[in-house]
Amino acid sequence: MENSLGKVFTITSFGESHGRCTGIIIDGCPAGLPINEEDIQREVDKRKPTSLIATTRAEEEKIEILSGTFNGHTTGAPIGLLVWNKDVDSSEYEKTRFLPRPGHADYTAFMKYGGFNDFRGGGRFSGRITAAFVMAGAIAKKLLNLISIEVLAHTIEIGGIRAQPRGFDEIRQVDQNPLKCADPEAAKEMLKVIEQAKGEGDSIGGIIEGVALNVPVGLGEPVFDTLDGDLAKALFAIPAVKGVEFGLGFSVARKRGSENNDPFTIKNGKIVTVTNNAGGILGGISNGMPIVVRAAIKPTPSIARKQETVNIQTMESATLEIKGRHDACIVPRAVPVVESMMAVTLSDFAMRAGLIPEVIK
Ligand SMILES: Cc1cc2nc3c(=O)[nH]c(=O)nc-3n(C[C@H](O)[C@H](O)[C@H](O)COP(=O)(O)O)c2cc1C
Repeated sequence: MENSLGKVFTITSFGESHGRCTGIIIDGCPAGLPINEEDIQREVDKRKPTSLIATTRAEEEKIEILSGTFNGHTTGAPIGLLVWNKDVDSSEYEKTRFLPRPGHADYTAFMKYGGFNDFRGGGRFSGRITAAFVMAGAIAKKLLNLISIEVLAHTIEIGGIRAQPRGFDEIRQVDQNPLKCADPEAAKEMLKVIEQAKGEGDSIGGIIEGVALNVPVGLGEPVFDTLDGDLAKALFAIPAVKGVEFGLGFSVARKRGSENNDPFTIKNGKIVTVTNNAGGILGGISNGMPIVVRAAIKPTPSIARKQETVNIQTMESATLEIKGRHDACIVPRAVPVVESMMAVTLSDFAMRAGLIPEVIK
Protein backbone atom coordinates (compact mmCIF):
# COMPACT_ATOMS: atom_id res chain seq x y z
CA MET A 1 0.00 0.00 0.00
CA GLU A 2 1.29 3.45 -0.81
CA ASN A 3 -0.52 6.00 1.32
CA SER A 4 2.18 8.65 1.46
CA LEU A 5 2.98 11.43 -0.99
CA GLY A 6 5.90 13.84 -1.26
CA LYS A 7 9.61 13.83 -0.47
CA VAL A 8 10.20 16.72 1.97
CA PHE A 9 6.70 18.02 2.76
CA THR A 10 4.98 14.64 2.98
CA ILE A 11 1.43 13.58 3.69
CA THR A 12 0.16 10.17 4.82
CA SER A 13 -3.54 9.44 4.45
CA PHE A 14 -5.47 7.15 6.83
CA GLY A 15 -9.06 6.25 7.64
CA GLU A 16 -12.13 4.86 5.93
CA SER A 17 -15.57 6.16 5.03
CA HIS A 18 -17.45 4.28 7.75
CA GLY A 19 -14.56 3.57 10.12
CA ARG A 20 -13.85 5.70 13.19
CA CYS A 21 -12.23 8.61 11.42
CA THR A 22 -10.38 9.89 8.39
CA GLY A 23 -7.20 11.89 8.68
CA ILE A 24 -3.77 12.91 7.53
CA ILE A 25 -0.25 13.00 8.97
CA ILE A 26 1.92 15.80 7.62
CA ASP A 27 5.65 15.36 8.09
CA GLY A 28 8.31 17.86 7.07
CA CYS A 29 6.29 20.99 7.74
CA PRO A 30 8.56 23.80 8.95
CA ALA A 31 8.34 24.97 12.58
CA GLY A 32 6.86 28.35 13.36
CA LEU A 33 3.96 28.41 10.90
CA PRO A 34 0.97 30.04 12.62
CA ILE A 35 -1.94 27.59 12.48
CA ASN A 36 -5.17 26.90 14.34
CA GLU A 37 -8.23 24.69 13.93
CA GLU A 38 -10.36 27.50 12.47
CA ASP A 39 -7.89 28.00 9.60
CA ILE A 40 -8.16 24.34 8.64
CA GLN A 41 -11.90 24.09 9.32
CA ARG A 42 -12.57 27.00 6.93
CA GLU A 43 -10.92 25.06 4.09
CA VAL A 44 -12.62 21.75 4.95
CA ASP A 45 -16.02 23.47 5.01
CA LYS A 46 -15.55 24.39 1.34
CA ARG A 47 -15.91 20.68 0.56
CA LYS A 48 -19.29 20.49 2.28
CA PRO A 49 -22.18 19.34 0.12
CA THR A 50 -24.52 22.16 -0.87
CA SER A 51 -28.22 21.66 -0.20
CA LEU A 52 -28.97 21.87 -3.94
CA ILE A 53 -26.99 18.85 -5.04
CA ALA A 54 -26.28 17.33 -1.67
CA THR A 55 -25.68 13.86 -0.41
CA THR A 56 -27.92 13.29 2.59
CA ARG A 57 -24.93 12.34 4.72
CA ALA A 58 -25.19 15.15 7.26
CA GLU A 59 -21.55 14.87 8.26
CA GLU A 60 -20.35 17.62 10.52
CA GLU A 61 -16.67 17.22 9.55
CA LYS A 62 -15.33 18.98 12.63
CA ILE A 63 -11.57 18.83 12.34
CA GLU A 64 -9.21 18.10 15.23
CA ILE A 65 -5.49 18.80 15.48
CA LEU A 66 -3.90 15.85 17.27
CA SER A 67 -0.25 16.83 17.24
CA GLY A 68 2.50 18.99 15.80
CA THR A 69 1.27 22.39 16.96
CA PHE A 70 1.92 24.32 20.16
CA ASN A 71 0.91 27.84 21.14
CA GLY A 72 -0.71 28.37 17.76
CA HIS A 73 2.36 27.45 15.69
CA THR A 74 3.67 24.30 14.05
CA THR A 75 6.50 22.73 16.03
CA GLY A 76 8.34 20.89 13.24
CA ALA A 77 6.98 17.55 14.52
CA PRO A 78 4.49 15.46 12.50
CA ILE A 79 1.09 17.15 12.35
CA GLY A 80 -1.86 14.79 12.93
CA LEU A 81 -5.26 15.96 11.72
CA LEU A 82 -8.59 14.15 11.56
CA VAL A 83 -12.36 14.25 11.44
CA TRP A 84 -14.41 11.64 13.31
CA ASN A 85 -17.05 9.77 11.30
CA LYS A 86 -20.35 10.20 13.12
CA ASP A 87 -23.25 10.23 10.67
CA VAL A 88 -22.63 6.72 9.38
CA ASP A 89 -25.30 4.32 8.10
CA SER A 90 -23.67 1.08 6.95
CA SER A 91 -26.84 -1.05 6.75
CA GLU A 92 -27.26 -0.79 2.95
CA TYR A 93 -23.63 -1.68 2.38
CA GLU A 94 -23.96 -4.84 4.52
CA LYS A 95 -26.88 -5.96 2.32
CA THR A 96 -24.95 -5.47 -0.93
CA ARG A 97 -21.56 -6.55 0.37
CA PHE A 98 -20.99 -9.13 -2.40
CA LEU A 99 -22.58 -7.06 -5.18
CA PRO A 100 -19.86 -4.70 -6.46
CA ARG A 101 -21.13 -1.34 -7.67
CA PRO A 102 -20.32 -0.80 -11.37
CA GLY A 103 -17.90 2.10 -11.70
CA HIS A 104 -16.81 1.99 -8.04
CA ALA A 105 -13.74 0.32 -6.54
CA ASP A 106 -15.74 -2.39 -4.72
CA TYR A 107 -14.70 -5.14 -7.14
CA THR A 108 -11.01 -4.28 -7.46
CA ALA A 109 -10.66 -3.71 -3.68
CA PHE A 110 -12.36 -7.05 -2.90
CA MET A 111 -10.08 -8.93 -5.30
CA LYS A 112 -6.90 -7.17 -4.17
CA TYR A 113 -7.48 -7.49 -0.42
CA GLY A 114 -9.24 -10.85 -0.43
CA GLY A 115 -12.44 -9.38 1.01
CA PHE A 116 -10.70 -8.06 4.16
CA ASN A 117 -11.11 -4.45 3.05
CA ASP A 118 -13.63 -2.26 4.86
CA PHE A 119 -16.22 -2.10 2.07
CA ARG A 120 -18.70 0.10 3.96
CA GLY A 121 -19.30 3.33 2.06
CA GLY A 122 -16.42 2.49 -0.28
CA GLY A 123 -13.95 2.30 2.65
CA ARG A 124 -10.57 3.71 1.59
CA PHE A 125 -11.97 4.44 -1.87
CA SER A 126 -14.60 6.85 -0.63
CA GLY A 127 -14.62 10.54 -1.48
CA ARG A 128 -14.66 11.00 2.29
CA ILE A 129 -10.89 10.53 2.50
CA THR A 130 -10.52 13.76 0.54
CA ALA A 131 -11.64 15.76 3.60
CA ALA A 132 -8.18 14.96 4.96
CA PHE A 133 -6.52 16.01 1.68
CA VAL A 134 -8.11 19.43 2.22
CA MET A 135 -6.73 19.60 5.78
CA ALA A 136 -3.23 19.08 4.36
CA GLY A 137 -4.01 21.61 1.64
CA ALA A 138 -4.93 24.22 4.26
CA ILE A 139 -1.42 24.00 5.74
CA ALA A 140 0.26 23.77 2.34
CA LYS A 141 -1.54 26.92 1.17
CA LYS A 142 -0.25 28.78 4.22
CA LEU A 143 3.29 27.70 3.41
CA LEU A 144 2.94 28.78 -0.21
CA ASN A 145 1.55 32.10 0.93
CA LEU A 146 4.96 32.81 2.52
CA ILE A 147 6.50 32.81 -0.95
CA SER A 148 3.48 34.49 -2.61
CA ILE A 149 2.32 31.39 -4.50
CA GLU A 150 -1.47 31.27 -4.79
CA VAL A 151 -3.48 28.21 -5.82
CA LEU A 152 -7.03 28.48 -7.15
CA ALA A 153 -9.50 25.94 -8.54
CA HIS A 154 -12.92 26.22 -10.13
CA THR A 155 -15.53 24.23 -12.02
CA ILE A 156 -15.27 24.84 -15.77
CA GLU A 157 -17.63 22.17 -17.08
CA ILE A 158 -20.50 20.00 -15.81
CA GLY A 159 -22.62 17.64 -17.92
CA GLY A 160 -21.28 19.19 -21.12
CA ILE A 161 -22.10 22.78 -20.05
CA ARG A 162 -18.90 24.83 -20.40
CA ALA A 163 -18.20 28.00 -18.40
CA GLN A 164 -16.93 31.08 -20.22
CA PRO A 165 -13.30 31.92 -19.28
CA ARG A 166 -13.13 34.29 -16.29
CA GLY A 167 -10.40 36.38 -14.65
CA PHE A 168 -8.49 35.37 -11.53
CA ASP A 169 -10.48 37.83 -9.36
CA GLU A 170 -13.73 36.07 -10.30
CA ILE A 171 -12.17 32.63 -9.79
CA ARG A 172 -11.12 33.75 -6.29
CA GLN A 173 -14.82 34.24 -5.45
CA VAL A 174 -16.08 30.78 -6.52
CA ASP A 175 -16.83 29.67 -2.98
CA GLN A 176 -19.86 31.95 -3.09
CA ASN A 177 -21.35 29.83 -5.89
CA PRO A 178 -22.74 26.37 -4.97
CA LEU A 179 -21.24 24.92 -8.14
CA LYS A 180 -17.87 26.63 -7.57
CA CYS A 181 -18.12 28.04 -11.07
CA ALA A 182 -16.96 31.58 -11.85
CA ASP A 183 -19.49 31.99 -14.67
CA PRO A 184 -22.91 32.46 -12.98
CA GLU A 185 -24.90 31.94 -16.21
CA ALA A 186 -23.22 28.61 -16.94
CA ALA A 187 -23.67 27.66 -13.27
CA LYS A 188 -27.45 28.01 -13.62
CA GLU A 189 -27.42 25.66 -16.63
CA MET A 190 -25.13 23.23 -14.80
CA LEU A 191 -27.59 23.09 -11.93
CA LYS A 192 -30.38 22.22 -14.36
CA VAL A 193 -28.47 19.32 -15.90
CA ILE A 194 -27.56 17.99 -12.45
CA GLU A 195 -31.21 18.11 -11.39
CA GLN A 196 -32.22 16.41 -14.61
CA ALA A 197 -29.71 13.59 -14.12
CA LYS A 198 -30.77 13.22 -10.51
CA GLY A 199 -34.44 13.05 -11.52
CA GLU A 200 -33.56 10.25 -13.91
CA GLY A 201 -31.76 8.31 -11.19
CA ASP A 202 -28.46 9.10 -12.88
CA SER A 203 -25.29 11.16 -12.37
CA ILE A 204 -22.97 13.43 -14.36
CA GLY A 205 -19.33 14.47 -14.34
CA GLY A 206 -17.34 17.52 -15.37
CA ILE A 207 -14.00 19.31 -15.43
CA ILE A 208 -12.16 21.26 -12.71
CA GLU A 209 -9.40 23.70 -13.57
CA GLY A 210 -6.59 24.43 -11.13
CA VAL A 211 -4.31 27.45 -11.45
CA ALA A 212 -1.13 28.24 -9.51
CA LEU A 213 0.04 31.86 -9.65
CA ASN A 214 3.50 33.34 -8.95
CA VAL A 215 5.26 29.98 -9.16
CA PRO A 216 8.93 30.83 -9.73
CA VAL A 217 10.94 29.39 -12.61
CA GLY A 218 12.71 26.15 -11.73
CA LEU A 219 10.37 23.91 -9.69
CA GLY A 220 10.44 20.29 -10.87
CA GLU A 221 13.02 17.48 -10.84
CA PRO A 222 13.39 15.83 -14.25
CA VAL A 223 13.33 13.17 -15.37
CA PHE A 224 11.17 11.14 -12.95
CA ASP A 225 9.97 13.82 -10.53
CA THR A 226 8.75 16.29 -13.10
CA LEU A 227 6.38 18.96 -11.80
CA ASP A 228 3.62 17.95 -14.21
CA GLY A 229 4.15 14.25 -13.46
CA ASP A 230 3.91 14.75 -9.70
CA LEU A 231 0.95 17.13 -9.94
CA ALA A 232 -0.83 14.55 -12.08
CA LYS A 233 -0.03 11.82 -9.54
CA ALA A 234 -1.46 13.94 -6.72
CA LEU A 235 -4.60 14.70 -8.72
CA PHE A 236 -5.09 11.06 -9.70
CA ALA A 237 -5.19 10.26 -5.97
CA ILE A 238 -8.56 12.01 -5.90
CA PRO A 239 -11.26 9.39 -6.43
CA ALA A 240 -13.18 9.83 -9.71
CA VAL A 241 -10.39 11.76 -11.52
CA LYS A 242 -10.02 10.04 -14.87
CA GLY A 243 -7.96 12.54 -16.82
CA VAL A 244 -5.41 15.30 -16.16
CA GLU A 245 -4.13 17.78 -18.74
CA PHE A 246 -1.84 20.82 -18.64
CA GLY A 247 -2.21 23.94 -20.78
CA LEU A 248 -3.71 22.99 -24.12
CA GLY A 249 -3.60 19.35 -23.00
CA PHE A 250 -4.79 16.74 -25.49
CA SER A 251 -5.63 19.39 -28.06
CA VAL A 252 -1.86 19.87 -28.74
CA ALA A 253 -2.13 16.72 -30.81
CA ARG A 254 -4.15 18.72 -33.35
CA LYS A 255 -1.92 21.85 -33.39
CA ARG A 256 1.06 22.89 -35.43
CA GLY A 257 4.28 23.87 -33.64
CA SER A 258 3.77 27.43 -34.82
CA GLU A 259 0.39 27.52 -33.05
CA ASN A 260 1.39 25.59 -29.95
CA ASN A 261 4.76 27.20 -29.11
CA ASP A 262 4.61 30.03 -26.59
CA PRO A 263 6.85 32.85 -27.88
CA PHE A 264 9.19 34.41 -25.31
CA THR A 265 9.22 38.13 -24.64
CA ILE A 266 10.41 40.58 -21.97
CA LYS A 267 7.81 42.24 -19.75
CA ASN A 268 8.83 44.60 -16.93
CA GLY A 269 12.38 43.25 -17.18
CA LYS A 270 11.21 39.64 -16.80
CA ILE A 271 11.21 36.80 -19.35
CA VAL A 272 7.63 35.68 -19.94
CA THR A 273 5.75 33.89 -22.71
CA VAL A 274 3.16 35.65 -24.86
CA THR A 275 0.74 32.69 -24.63
CA ASN A 276 0.61 29.90 -22.03
CA ASN A 277 -0.24 26.82 -24.06
CA ALA A 278 2.33 24.86 -22.03
CA GLY A 279 0.36 25.50 -18.85
CA GLY A 280 3.41 26.93 -17.05
CA ILE A 281 5.63 23.84 -17.34
CA LEU A 282 8.40 23.05 -19.86
CA GLY A 283 10.58 19.95 -19.54
CA GLY A 284 8.89 19.13 -16.23
CA ILE A 285 10.11 22.46 -14.78
CA SER A 286 7.97 25.49 -13.97
CA ASN A 287 8.62 28.34 -16.43
CA GLY A 288 7.26 31.20 -14.31
CA MET A 289 3.89 31.41 -16.08
CA PRO A 290 0.69 30.37 -14.28
CA ILE A 291 0.43 26.60 -13.93
CA VAL A 292 -2.85 25.58 -15.53
CA VAL A 293 -4.12 22.04 -15.04
CA ARG A 294 -7.51 20.45 -15.64
CA ALA A 295 -8.91 17.30 -14.06
CA ALA A 296 -11.79 15.33 -15.64
CA ILE A 297 -14.18 14.00 -13.01
CA LYS A 298 -16.37 11.06 -13.96
CA PRO A 299 -20.08 10.79 -13.12
CA THR A 300 -20.71 9.53 -9.57
CA PRO A 301 -20.66 5.72 -9.86
CA SER A 302 -23.43 5.15 -7.27
CA ILE A 303 -26.67 5.87 -9.12
CA ALA A 304 -30.26 5.19 -8.14
CA ARG A 305 -31.07 3.26 -11.34
CA LYS A 306 -31.02 -0.53 -11.33
CA GLN A 307 -27.69 -1.85 -12.59
CA GLU A 308 -26.33 -5.14 -13.72
CA THR A 309 -23.64 -6.72 -11.56
CA VAL A 310 -22.55 -10.11 -10.23
CA ASN A 311 -22.52 -11.72 -6.81
CA ILE A 312 -18.81 -12.21 -6.11
CA GLN A 313 -19.56 -14.94 -3.58
CA THR A 314 -22.03 -17.08 -5.55
CA MET A 315 -20.67 -16.16 -9.01
CA GLU A 316 -24.18 -15.45 -10.30
CA SER A 317 -25.58 -12.51 -12.23
CA ALA A 318 -27.39 -10.01 -10.05
CA THR A 319 -29.27 -6.72 -10.16
CA LEU A 320 -28.18 -3.89 -7.91
CA GLU A 321 -30.34 -1.07 -6.63
CA ILE A 322 -28.30 1.39 -4.58
CA LYS A 323 -30.12 2.90 -1.62
CA GLY A 324 -27.14 4.77 -0.09
CA ARG A 325 -26.60 8.53 -0.04
CA HIS A 326 -24.83 9.93 -3.07
CA ASP A 327 -24.47 13.21 -4.97
CA ALA A 328 -25.65 13.24 -8.59
CA CYS A 329 -22.51 15.30 -9.34
CA ILE A 330 -19.39 15.42 -7.19
CA VAL A 331 -17.54 18.04 -9.25
CA PRO A 332 -18.18 21.08 -6.95
CA ARG A 333 -17.12 19.11 -3.87
CA ALA A 334 -13.90 18.05 -5.58
CA VAL A 335 -12.88 21.66 -6.40
CA PRO A 336 -11.23 22.37 -2.99
CA VAL A 337 -9.64 18.93 -3.19
CA VAL A 338 -7.96 19.75 -6.52
CA GLU A 339 -6.75 23.04 -5.05
CA SER A 340 -5.39 21.20 -1.99
CA MET A 341 -3.53 18.49 -3.88
CA MET A 342 -1.90 21.14 -6.07
CA ALA A 343 -0.88 23.10 -2.95
CA VAL A 344 0.54 19.99 -1.25
CA THR A 345 2.63 19.11 -4.32
CA LEU A 346 3.86 22.66 -4.87
CA SER A 347 4.81 22.95 -1.16
CA ASP A 348 6.88 19.80 -1.48
CA PHE A 349 8.68 21.11 -4.56
CA ALA A 350 9.20 24.54 -2.99
CA MET A 351 10.75 22.91 0.08
CA ARG A 352 12.91 20.65 -2.06
CA ALA A 353 14.17 23.78 -3.84
CA GLY A 354 14.96 25.45 -0.48
CA LEU A 355 12.46 28.26 -1.07
CA ILE A 356 10.80 27.73 2.33
CA PRO A 357 13.08 27.59 5.41
CA GLU A 358 12.83 24.84 8.07
CA VAL A 359 12.00 27.44 10.71
CA ILE A 360 9.66 30.33 9.93
CA LYS A 361 10.49 33.47 11.89
C1 LIG B 1 -15.49 14.56 -3.00
C2 LIG B 1 -15.86 13.22 -3.59
C3 LIG B 1 -17.08 12.65 -3.25
C4 LIG B 1 -17.46 11.41 -3.79
N1 LIG B 1 -18.67 10.89 -3.45
C5 LIG B 1 -19.09 9.74 -4.02
C6 LIG B 1 -20.39 9.22 -3.72
O1 LIG B 1 -21.18 9.80 -2.96
N2 LIG B 1 -20.74 8.05 -4.33
C7 LIG B 1 -19.94 7.38 -5.19
O2 LIG B 1 -20.30 6.34 -5.71
N3 LIG B 1 -18.70 7.85 -5.49
C8 LIG B 1 -18.26 9.01 -4.93
N4 LIG B 1 -17.00 9.49 -5.25
C9 LIG B 1 -16.20 8.81 -6.29
C10 LIG B 1 -15.67 7.44 -5.89
O3 LIG B 1 -15.02 7.51 -4.63
C11 LIG B 1 -14.74 6.88 -6.97
O4 LIG B 1 -15.34 6.95 -8.22
C12 LIG B 1 -14.37 5.42 -6.67
O5 LIG B 1 -13.50 5.35 -5.56
C13 LIG B 1 -13.67 4.70 -7.82
O6 LIG B 1 -12.44 5.33 -8.11
P1 LIG B 1 -12.15 5.90 -9.56
O7 LIG B 1 -13.38 6.59 -10.00
O8 LIG B 1 -10.99 6.83 -9.36
O9 LIG B 1 -11.81 4.73 -10.44
C14 LIG B 1 -16.59 10.71 -4.69
C15 LIG B 1 -15.35 11.31 -5.01
C16 LIG B 1 -14.99 12.55 -4.49
C17 LIG B 1 -13.68 13.17 -4.87
